Amino acid sequence: MKVVSPFRIGERRQLARGIFQLDLVLECGKVPPPARPGQFVMIAPTFPKSVLPRPFSIYRAGHESLSVVFKVVGDNTRALAFGDIAQQLIITGPCGKPAAVRDDAKLFILVGGGCGLASLRFLAQEMRLRDKVEIMLAAGFPTADEVFGEADFESDLCISMDIATDDGSRGTKGTAFDLFRNIIFGEEGLPDYADIQVFTCGPKPMMKAVAQLCLAEGIPCSVILEEMMACGLGACKGCAVQTASGIKHVCKDGPVFDAREVTEYVAS
Ligand SMILES: Cc1cc2nc3c(=O)[nH]c(=O)nc-3n(C[C@H](O)[C@H](O)[C@H](O)COP(=O)(O)OP(=O)(O)OC[C@H]3O[C@@H](n4cnc5c(N)ncnc54)[C@H](O)[C@@H]3O)c2cc1C
Ligand code: FES
Repeated sequence: MKVVSPFRIGERRQLARGIFQLDLVLECGKVPPPARPGQFVMIAPTFPKSVLPRPFSIYRAGHESLSVVFKVVGDNTRALAFGDIAQQLIITGPCGKPAAVRDDAKLFILVGGGCGLASLRFLAQEMRLRDKVEIMLAAGFPTADEVFGEADFESDLCISMDIATDDGSRGTKGTAFDLFRNIIFGEEGLPDYADIQVFTCGPKPMMKAVAQLCLAEGIPCSVILEEMMACGLGACKGCAVQTASGIKHVCKDGPVFDAREVTEYVAS
């Protein structure tokens, strides 16, 4: 069940160039049902006023609070980053289906590009609760000053985080996919592929490369699609994607899909 509630900005901080975190607190009204990893919220700023709400992954979830991390790209994200700190935000959620995290996985590999990392933290938190699992994060960014998330993934969740930048200004020169390929084919070798689950979120070419490698190697992989959305509720049909089993709507059937379902789509 989704609930529409007014939230206020508890804290707003800049994490990296153009990247912000908002810690949001429920102001009044109905408490939204507990969110699960993989789900997202639709956020409408009220100052300046937004015509359409925008989708954001849940970075952290509390009982009457949640955090999102986002990149400033247009009017809504600008309003969230620089608009009135006292503004009310109208939030609808939690939206979408929770991710299916495998119970029998021993190693989770997360592959995130840029703000795609934002959808992976809540998932990693769920994985961390399990006994005797290892979690590795391959994170790619355009350049050093856009790197974020180390405090949350490495220090907070104790997850090994390999960093790559397109220009080599931080970590390995290359992409998150290059890091992922090194993990899979690296010298140390990996345990049984049947014990691994991969999640990827970020630019389409990166997700395509990760999905294709996983399919070729028989590694279970889930892809988190961040399609443009109008309603986020399954009503406008604006987020339709062609999958192996017909048309699906990212806001209702996703945003997390089995890579086998959407390889053609991310390759298009
Ligand atoms: C399920 C889901 C989860 C998301 N989670 C996050 C998140 O945690 N952090 C984050 O930074 N972003 C996330 N996004 C993307 C975010 O919704 C967009 O960046 C946001 O809607 C931009 O709104 P805007 O009004 O600022 O920009 P707009 O004016 O709407 O767009 C600015 C520019 O960005 C392009 N654009 C906007 N949205 C998208 C998109 N989804 N894909 C490709 N291009 C786009 C537009 O074509 C335009 O060129 C998510 C999207 C989805 C569907
Ligand atoms: S965004 Fe309206 S149906 Fe998905």
